[in-house]
Amino acid sequence: APHARILGLGSALPSRVVDNAEMCTYIDSSDEWIQQRTGIVERRWVAEGETVESLSLAAGRAALDHAGLTGADLDGVIVSTVSHMLQTPSLAAVIAAKIGTDGAAAFDIAAACAGFCYGLAQAESLVRSGAATHVLVIGAETLSNLTDLKDRSTAFLFSDGAGAAVVGPSDEPAMGPVVWGSDGGQADAITMSNPWPEALALGETSSIVMDGRAVFRWATGFIATAAERCLSAAGVRPDELDLFVPHQANNRITDAMLRHLHLPESVTVARTITHYGNNSAASIPVALCDMLASGEAKSGDLALLIGFGAGLVYAGQVVRL
Ligand code: ACO
Repeated sequence: APHARILGLGSALPSRVVDNAEMCTYIDSSDEWIQQRTGIVERRWVAEGETVESLSLAAGRAALDHAGLTGADLDGVIVSTVSHMLQTPSLAAVIAAKIGTDGAAAFDIAAACAGFCYGLAQAESLVRSGAATHVLVIGAETLSNLTDLKDRSTAFLFSDGAGAAVVGPSDEPAMGPVVWGSDGGQADAITMSNPWPEALALGETSSIVMDGRAVFRWATGFIATAAERCLSAAGVRPDELDLFVPHQANNRITDAMLRHLHLPESVTVARTITHYGNNSAASIPVALCDMLASGEAKSGDLALLIGFGAGLVYAGQVVRL
């Protein structure tokens, strides 16, 4: 088959719910400020025993179930994460074994909050070229481990979770083309170092450091136009779209994108950040799963996905669910 399609989606959220009242025991803030600036009411953090690996496995298994496939059907596993404890081996190699592939190709990608869309683009190309038949793409983060709970410019924002998609062959075109790029000139906008003595001696920190205003400007300006380019690259008119699923960075960023895009009322917009927080690479597949489960989305819907984050990097595509 010359085309690729998302055959199944899955997600896994950690069990611990951290509301804004609890958040305000860590930082000097208020429920009202956090809701007004971000839309977040509560977020999910890992509890004892939950890890980026356990969440990835659960999301991957759910996506395989949804696709009606098993691990043995996979010949590729791609994981996007910045939360894996090891530099090597990749989390993807571990997942490929534990999910029961027969030695599938496996690699991690580092594209922060854009990682799921980067992974989808990779999977689409691999399937379309014939290099792979079924590729599992996972976006997974445990940013609660990487956030400085005393940093009132980031602590309220970030969270944990995993989402996954199985990409496989299709007779009809159902994904892309991807619109992507980077702006390393803004590399300092969101950073997190390895906790190596050399890095720490240079003044780096192993918690996330963010220039919130720089990210906000970029996301509401440049990324809003990138979302528009995703539609034209796919030859899709706004009124043909069913779902808009931007990375769940912040509801105010989503609002600003909507003002730019002028999407019709009929388009359903993802807002899962409200109850999950910003779980980075996981946010888009987690939102898609929630929207399918609630009936807001259905198989066959046309969805505009756009991921953006540290790098700065971005990737987006229109997909048929
Ligand atoms: N609680 C209460 N008040 C706060 C807090 C807090 N946690 N943090 C800052 N403030 C106060 C400041 O002291 C300041 O008060 P002042 O006006 O009296 O001096 C005021 O709020 C504004 O502070 P700013 O730092 O300018 O806050 P800003 O309005 O920029 O909001 C925020 C911060 C929400 C992070 C915003 O910059 C933002 O949304 N940025 C986008 C970042 C984002 O969404 N990143 C997503 C993660 S990266 C990614 O996923 C791509």
